[in-house]
Amino acid sequence: MTGNLLTDNPALYEARFPDPSRLAGRWAEDCLRRHGAGRRVLDLGCGTGRDAAWLHGAGREVTGADLSEAMLAHARAHHPGPEYVRADLHGFDLGQGVSDAVVCLDSALLYCHTNDQLDGFLSSCRRALTPGGLLVAEMRNGAYFLGRTDLLDTPRVDEFTWQETVHRSVTTLTVDRTAQLLRRTRLWTADDGSPPVEQRSAWRLLFPQELRHLLGAHGFEVLELHDGPGPRTEPPWQEGLLPGRTTDADRLHVVARSTKPSTGTITP
Ligand SMILES: C[S@@+](CC[C@H](N)C(=O)[O-])C[C@H]1O[C@@H](n2cnc3c(N)ncnc32)[C@H](O)[C@@H]1O
Repeated sequence: MTGNLLTDNPALYEARFPDPSRLAGRWAEDCLRRHGAGRRVLDLGCGTGRDAAWLHGAGREVTGADLSEAMLAHARAHHPGPEYVRADLHGFDLGQGVSDAVVCLDSALLYCHTNDQLDGFLSSCRRALTPGGLLVAEMRNGAYFLGRTDLLDTPRVDEFTWQETVHRSVTTLTVDRTAQLLRRTRLWTADDGSPPVEQRSAWRLLFPQELRHLLGAHGFEVLELHDGPGPRTEPPWQEGLLPGRTTDADRLHVVARSTKPSTGTITP
Protein backbone atom coordinates (compact mmCIF):
# COMPACT_ATOMS: atom_id res chain seq x y z
CA MET A 1 0.00 0.00 0.00
CA THR A 2 1.32 3.49 -0.79
CA GLY A 3 0.19 6.91 0.42
CA ASN A 4 1.22 9.64 2.75
CA LEU A 5 0.54 8.11 6.14
CA LEU A 6 1.26 11.31 8.02
CA THR A 7 -0.66 13.88 5.97
CA ASP A 8 -3.56 11.39 5.75
CA ASN A 9 -3.48 10.99 9.56
CA PRO A 10 -2.94 14.44 11.10
CA ALA A 11 -3.26 13.17 14.68
CA LEU A 12 -0.50 10.66 13.97
CA TYR A 13 1.59 13.48 12.42
CA GLU A 14 1.33 15.48 15.65
CA ALA A 15 2.24 12.39 17.69
CA ARG A 16 5.28 11.66 15.50
CA PHE A 17 6.45 15.30 15.44
CA PRO A 18 5.36 16.70 18.79
CA ASP A 19 5.73 20.41 19.46
CA PRO A 20 4.07 20.74 22.89
CA SER A 21 5.48 24.20 23.61
CA ARG A 22 4.63 25.42 20.09
CA LEU A 23 8.20 26.38 19.25
CA ALA A 24 7.37 26.69 15.54
CA GLY A 25 4.64 29.24 16.24
CA ARG A 26 6.86 31.07 18.73
CA TRP A 27 9.75 31.18 16.25
CA ALA A 28 7.46 32.67 13.59
CA GLU A 29 6.02 35.22 16.03
CA ASP A 30 9.55 36.20 17.11
CA CYS A 31 10.45 36.96 13.45
CA LEU A 32 7.18 38.80 12.83
CA ARG A 33 7.67 41.03 15.88
CA ARG A 34 11.36 41.66 15.21
CA HIS A 35 10.48 43.03 11.79
CA GLY A 36 7.30 44.86 12.80
CA ALA A 37 4.78 42.79 10.78
CA GLY A 38 1.12 43.81 10.73
CA ARG A 39 -1.60 41.59 12.22
CA ARG A 40 -2.79 39.53 9.23
CA VAL A 41 -0.86 36.30 8.68
CA LEU A 42 -1.19 33.56 6.08
CA ASP A 43 0.28 30.19 7.20
CA LEU A 44 1.06 28.25 4.01
CA GLY A 45 1.36 24.49 4.34
CA CYS A 46 -0.32 24.92 7.75
CA GLY A 47 -0.68 21.15 8.24
CA THR A 48 -2.53 20.29 11.43
CA GLY A 49 -3.13 23.99 12.22
CA ARG A 50 -1.25 24.00 15.53
CA ASP A 51 1.10 26.84 14.50
CA ALA A 52 -1.71 28.87 12.91
CA ALA A 53 -3.77 28.52 16.09
CA TRP A 54 -0.85 29.55 18.26
CA LEU A 55 -0.35 32.71 16.16
CA HIS A 56 -4.10 33.37 16.42
CA GLY A 57 -3.78 33.07 20.22
CA ALA A 58 -0.92 35.59 20.10
CA GLY A 59 -3.40 38.13 18.71
CA ARG A 60 -2.99 37.69 14.97
CA GLU A 61 -5.68 37.36 12.34
CA VAL A 62 -4.62 34.08 10.73
CA THR A 63 -5.54 32.14 7.62
CA GLY A 64 -4.11 28.62 7.40
CA ALA A 65 -3.79 27.09 3.94
CA ASP A 66 -2.93 23.53 2.93
CA LEU A 67 -3.53 21.15 0.05
CA SER A 68 -4.54 18.21 2.23
CA GLU A 69 -8.26 18.03 3.04
CA ALA A 70 -7.44 15.69 5.94
CA MET A 71 -5.10 18.29 7.46
CA LEU A 72 -7.67 21.08 6.97
CA ALA A 73 -10.46 19.04 8.59
CA HIS A 74 -8.19 18.25 11.56
CA ALA A 75 -7.15 21.91 11.86
CA ARG A 76 -10.76 23.14 11.90
CA ALA A 77 -11.75 20.57 14.53
CA HIS A 78 -8.70 20.66 16.81
CA HIS A 79 -7.05 24.06 16.33
CA PRO A 80 -9.90 26.55 15.93
CA GLY A 81 -9.49 30.30 15.60
CA PRO A 82 -7.87 30.76 12.19
CA GLU A 83 -9.80 30.47 8.95
CA TYR A 84 -8.63 27.36 7.04
CA VAL A 85 -8.66 27.23 3.25
CA ARG A 86 -7.44 24.84 0.57
CA ALA A 87 -4.62 26.29 -1.52
CA ASP A 88 -1.69 24.98 -3.52
CA LEU A 89 1.73 26.39 -2.65
CA HIS A 90 2.66 26.17 -6.33
CA GLY A 91 0.23 28.91 -7.25
CA PHE A 92 -2.71 30.38 -5.31
CA ASP A 93 -4.85 33.47 -5.38
CA LEU A 94 -6.44 34.44 -2.08
CA GLY A 95 -6.78 38.09 -3.13
CA GLN A 96 -4.38 40.99 -3.58
CA GLY A 97 -2.75 42.55 -0.50
CA VAL A 98 -4.84 40.43 1.90
CA SER A 99 -1.98 39.63 4.27
CA ASP A 100 0.76 41.44 6.18
CA ALA A 101 2.90 38.30 6.37
CA VAL A 102 3.20 34.82 4.91
CA VAL A 103 4.76 32.13 7.10
CA CYS A 104 5.88 28.79 5.68
CA LEU A 105 7.21 26.42 8.33
CA ASP A 106 8.94 23.08 8.63
CA SER A 107 10.22 22.87 5.05
CA ALA A 108 6.73 23.26 3.51
CA LEU A 109 8.30 25.59 0.91
CA LEU A 110 10.46 22.70 -0.30
CA TYR A 111 7.34 21.01 -1.68
CA CYS A 112 7.94 23.42 -4.57
CA HIS A 113 10.10 20.97 -6.52
CA THR A 114 10.59 22.75 -9.83
CA ASN A 115 11.68 26.28 -10.71
CA ASP A 116 8.20 26.95 -12.12
CA GLN A 117 6.64 25.90 -8.81
CA LEU A 118 9.04 28.16 -6.88
CA ASP A 119 8.19 31.05 -9.22
CA GLY A 120 4.48 30.31 -8.74
CA PHE A 121 4.91 30.25 -4.96
CA LEU A 122 6.83 33.53 -4.77
CA SER A 123 4.59 35.45 -7.18
CA SER A 124 1.49 34.17 -5.31
CA CYS A 125 3.01 35.25 -1.98
CA ARG A 126 3.80 38.67 -3.38
CA ARG A 127 0.22 39.07 -4.66
CA ALA A 128 -1.18 38.06 -1.26
CA LEU A 129 1.09 40.45 0.62
CA THR A 130 0.51 44.10 1.21
CA PRO A 131 3.50 46.20 0.00
CA GLY A 132 6.16 45.92 2.71
CA GLY A 133 4.67 42.58 3.85
CA LEU A 134 6.94 39.81 5.11
CA LEU A 135 7.72 36.28 3.98
CA VAL A 136 8.99 34.21 6.92
CA ALA A 137 10.14 30.66 6.19
CA GLU A 138 12.03 27.90 7.93
CA MET A 139 13.32 24.84 6.06
CA ARG A 140 16.06 22.29 5.58
CA ASN A 141 19.16 23.70 3.92
CA GLY A 142 20.13 22.13 0.58
CA ALA A 143 23.76 23.18 1.11
CA TYR A 144 23.90 21.12 4.31
CA PHE A 145 23.68 17.92 2.27
CA LEU A 146 26.77 18.72 0.18
CA GLY A 147 29.36 16.11 1.14
CA ARG A 148 27.12 14.63 3.85
CA THR A 149 27.15 11.12 2.43
CA ASP A 150 26.60 9.78 5.97
CA LEU A 151 23.00 11.07 5.78
CA LEU A 152 22.23 9.37 2.48
CA ASP A 153 21.36 5.91 1.18
CA THR A 154 21.40 4.31 4.65
CA PRO A 155 18.08 3.19 6.16
CA ARG A 156 17.32 4.77 9.54
CA VAL A 157 14.90 3.09 11.91
CA ASP A 158 12.54 5.01 14.24
CA GLU A 159 9.86 3.73 16.56
CA PHE A 160 7.13 5.44 18.51
CA THR A 161 3.97 4.39 20.33
CA TRP A 162 0.62 6.00 19.52
CA GLN A 163 -2.70 4.84 20.95
CA GLU A 164 -1.02 1.67 22.31
CA THR A 165 0.27 0.69 18.87
CA VAL A 166 3.99 0.62 18.13
CA HIS A 167 4.71 2.32 14.77
CA ARG A 168 8.04 1.59 13.15
CA SER A 169 9.47 3.52 10.22
CA VAL A 170 12.47 2.75 8.06
CA THR A 171 13.56 5.91 6.26
CA THR A 172 16.05 6.22 3.43
CA LEU A 173 17.17 9.54 1.94
CA THR A 174 18.66 9.73 -1.54
CA VAL A 175 19.78 12.66 -3.65
CA ASP A 176 18.32 13.03 -7.13
CA ARG A 177 20.99 15.29 -8.60
CA THR A 178 19.20 15.81 -11.91
CA ALA A 179 15.95 17.01 -10.36
CA GLN A 180 17.84 18.65 -7.43
CA LEU A 181 15.61 16.83 -4.97
CA LEU A 182 16.15 15.05 -1.70
CA ARG A 183 13.97 11.98 -2.04
CA ARG A 184 12.66 10.15 1.01
CA THR A 185 11.26 6.64 1.11
CA ARG A 186 9.65 5.59 4.36
CA LEU A 187 8.24 2.16 5.08
CA TRP A 188 5.76 2.11 7.97
CA THR A 189 4.80 -0.98 9.89
CA ALA A 190 2.65 -1.27 13.01
CA ASP A 191 2.25 -4.05 15.55
CA ASP A 192 -1.56 -4.03 15.19
CA GLY A 193 -1.57 -6.24 12.10
CA SER A 194 -2.29 -3.41 9.66
CA PRO A 195 -0.57 -3.75 6.25
CA PRO A 196 2.73 -1.91 5.70
CA VAL A 197 2.55 1.51 4.06
CA GLU A 198 5.25 2.89 1.81
CA GLN A 199 5.46 6.67 1.72
CA ARG A 200 7.50 8.50 -0.90
CA SER A 201 8.10 12.22 -0.71
CA ALA A 202 10.70 14.73 -1.82
CA TRP A 203 12.04 18.13 -0.90
CA ARG A 204 13.67 20.57 -3.25
CA LEU A 205 17.40 20.85 -2.48
CA LEU A 206 17.32 24.64 -2.36
CA PHE A 207 20.63 26.42 -1.88
CA PRO A 208 20.96 29.69 0.04
CA GLN A 209 22.35 31.74 -2.86
CA GLU A 210 19.70 30.32 -5.18
CA LEU A 211 16.99 31.33 -2.72
CA ARG A 212 18.48 34.81 -2.34
CA HIS A 213 18.43 35.23 -6.11
CA LEU A 214 14.84 34.00 -6.47
CA LEU A 215 13.63 36.31 -3.71
CA GLY A 216 15.31 39.31 -5.38
CA ALA A 217 13.90 38.37 -8.78
CA HIS A 218 10.38 38.34 -7.29
CA GLY A 219 10.67 41.76 -5.70
CA PHE A 220 11.62 40.71 -2.17
CA GLU A 221 14.34 42.39 -0.10
CA VAL A 222 16.15 39.76 1.98
CA LEU A 223 16.24 40.87 5.63
CA GLU A 224 17.57 37.61 7.08
CA LEU A 225 18.94 34.47 5.45
CA HIS A 226 21.02 32.31 7.74
CA ASP A 227 21.13 28.95 9.46
CA GLY A 228 19.87 28.31 12.97
CA PRO A 229 18.14 25.69 15.06
CA GLY A 230 14.62 24.83 13.98
CA PRO A 231 11.61 24.34 16.19
CA ARG A 232 12.18 20.59 16.11
CA THR A 233 15.99 20.34 15.89
CA GLU A 234 18.23 19.15 18.72
CA PRO A 235 18.98 21.46 20.49
CA PRO A 236 15.78 23.29 19.59
CA TRP A 237 15.38 26.99 18.86
CA GLN A 238 14.89 29.15 21.94
CA GLU A 239 13.62 32.67 22.41
CA GLY A 240 16.24 35.42 22.44
CA LEU A 241 18.63 33.51 20.17
CA LEU A 242 20.57 35.91 17.94
CA PRO A 243 20.27 35.40 14.16
CA GLY A 244 23.02 33.17 12.73
CA ARG A 245 25.84 34.40 10.50
CA THR A 246 26.39 31.41 8.22
CA THR A 247 24.27 29.29 5.88
CA ASP A 248 26.04 26.04 6.70
CA ALA A 249 23.83 24.05 9.09
CA ASP A 250 20.73 21.90 8.57
CA ARG A 251 18.05 24.60 8.87
CA LEU A 252 17.65 27.89 7.01
CA HIS A 253 15.77 30.83 8.48
CA VAL A 254 14.51 33.37 5.96
CA VAL A 255 12.80 36.72 6.38
CA ALA A 256 12.16 38.83 3.27
CA ARG A 257 10.13 41.96 2.63
CA SER A 258 7.96 42.54 -0.43
CA THR A 259 9.27 45.82 -1.76
CA LYS A 260 6.54 46.94 -4.16
CA PRO A 261 3.04 45.96 -5.25
CA SER A 262 2.76 42.83 -7.38
CA THR A 263 2.54 43.34 -11.13
CA GLY A 264 2.21 39.63 -11.84
CA THR A 265 5.59 39.53 -13.63
CA ILE A 266 9.11 38.67 -12.47
CA THR A 267 11.30 41.77 -12.20
CA PRO A 268 14.96 40.73 -12.03
C1 LIG B 1 5.93 19.14 6.93
S1 LIG B 1 4.23 19.59 6.89
C2 LIG B 1 4.33 21.11 7.76
C3 LIG B 1 3.10 21.34 8.51
C4 LIG B 1 3.14 22.49 9.50
N1 LIG B 1 3.61 23.73 8.92
C5 LIG B 1 4.00 22.08 10.67
O1 LIG B 1 5.07 22.66 10.84
O2 LIG B 1 3.54 21.21 11.43
C6 LIG B 1 4.02 20.08 5.25
C7 LIG B 1 2.59 20.45 4.89
O3 LIG B 1 2.62 20.96 3.55
C8 LIG B 1 1.45 20.49 2.90
N2 LIG B 1 1.70 20.53 1.46
C9 LIG B 1 2.48 19.71 0.70
N3 LIG B 1 2.45 20.09 -0.60
C10 LIG B 1 1.63 21.18 -0.65
C11 LIG B 1 1.19 22.03 -1.70
N4 LIG B 1 1.60 21.84 -2.96
N5 LIG B 1 0.36 23.06 -1.41
C12 LIG B 1 -0.06 23.26 -0.13
N6 LIG B 1 0.32 22.49 0.92
C13 LIG B 1 1.15 21.46 0.66
C14 LIG B 1 1.23 19.09 3.44
O4 LIG B 1 -0.13 18.70 3.28
C15 LIG B 1 1.63 19.28 4.90
O5 LIG B 1 0.52 19.61 5.70
